[in-house]
Amino acid sequence: MNQTGLGLAIIGCGSATPQEVITNDHLTSLVDTSDEWISTRTGIRSRRVISETESLSQLAHQAAIAALDMAKITPADLDLIILATSTPDDLFGSANQIQASLGATHAVAFDLTAACSGFVFGLVTAAQFMRTGVYRRVLLIGADVLSRWVDWSDRGTCILFGDGAGAVVLEQRSPDQLLGFELRSNGSQRQDLTLGYQSQPQILSPEITVQQGGYTKIFMNGKEVYKFAVQQVPEIIEKALFRANITVDQVDWLLLHQANQRILDAVSDRLKIPSSKVLSNLRHYGNTSAASIPLALDEAVRSGKVKPGDVIATAGFGAGLTWGAAIFKWG
Ligand code: UT7
Repeated sequence: MNQTGLGLAIIGCGSATPQEVITNDHLTSLVDTSDEWISTRTGIRSRRVISETESLSQLAHQAAIAALDMAKITPADLDLIILATSTPDDLFGSANQIQASLGATHAVAFDLTAACSGFVFGLVTAAQFMRTGVYRRVLLIGADVLSRWVDWSDRGTCILFGDGAGAVVLEQRSPDQLLGFELRSNGSQRQDLTLGYQSQPQILSPEITVQQGGYTKIFMNGKEVYKFAVQQVPEIIEKALFRANITVDQVDWLLLHQANQRILDAVSDRLKIPSSKVLSNLRHYGNTSAASIPLALDEAVRSGKVKPGDVIATAGFGAGLTWGAAIFKWG
């Protein structure tokens, strides 16, 4: 698959979550729900949310520092920073703020938006720069603070989301540790999960009317997104495994976007991957969008579960609709 002979390895990871915890019981004072309903339908027990004084960039910075530390490289060694997020502090992008706060003076930085698939799309984007020899060291961050955009009166969505950041450091290596990938989009189903712009006309002069507005709250057709996930995710993982030329038995860990435990169970069942190989931490954090995969990876690496050389099958899925899978060896 890779013709250049150049490849990459993930050599460090890190994560950060805010201090403030919202439990299922807390949510019962906001909407008509129960701990029992939320935990049996989603597996989620609590989620973290940023306070008034915290920001996406701060969380992303903390996760990046931890990943750089594990990788034993300095910010000045970085050539590229990709921030996968749908919730930047600045609509023009927040990657440059992180570049500045880290002091990554040689790195070019940009945001990438692919919702909950952002981390996987970012990994594949980084790989293209590395396989062509353009960049040697890349910091990839997945971070989201969806609590800013949740409709806290909608029990179908406010129970799901939390805030967080995860980061990985990639270094050019041969042989390539990114074994295979597959990405997909289906814009015709975009209405099932949106965070849309809404405008009002603003009259500047009798001849000129412009539009000014802001973003609405998250809207999700949960049933449709659920169906999409359990149908498409096993398929795309199988395609990525085929590209990697490995069988499902050779997968050590299944690392899915942490959306709903029932989706994790359904996908692993379809792939015949035992639950002992499924990484899951959503009970503590909920769905942290682009952060969920690197956050779960970081916990699994630091706890000693995931070891160097382990084969990980990962998949992101969500708004867009977008979905993608990548097969890589850790370390
Ligand atoms: O990161 C992007 C990817 N996003 C996802 O993967 C989310 C995918 N979707 C889901 O995870 C699930 O669809 C949800 C967890 C959002 C909803 O679970 P569900 O089993 O599909 O529930 P439902 O929407 O079919 O609703 C079943 C019932 C309804 O009541 P009726 O109409 O049967 O009387 C809902 O009104 O449950 C009700 N309900 C709730 N009840 C208590 C919906 N939300 C709640 C709630 N508490 N929070």
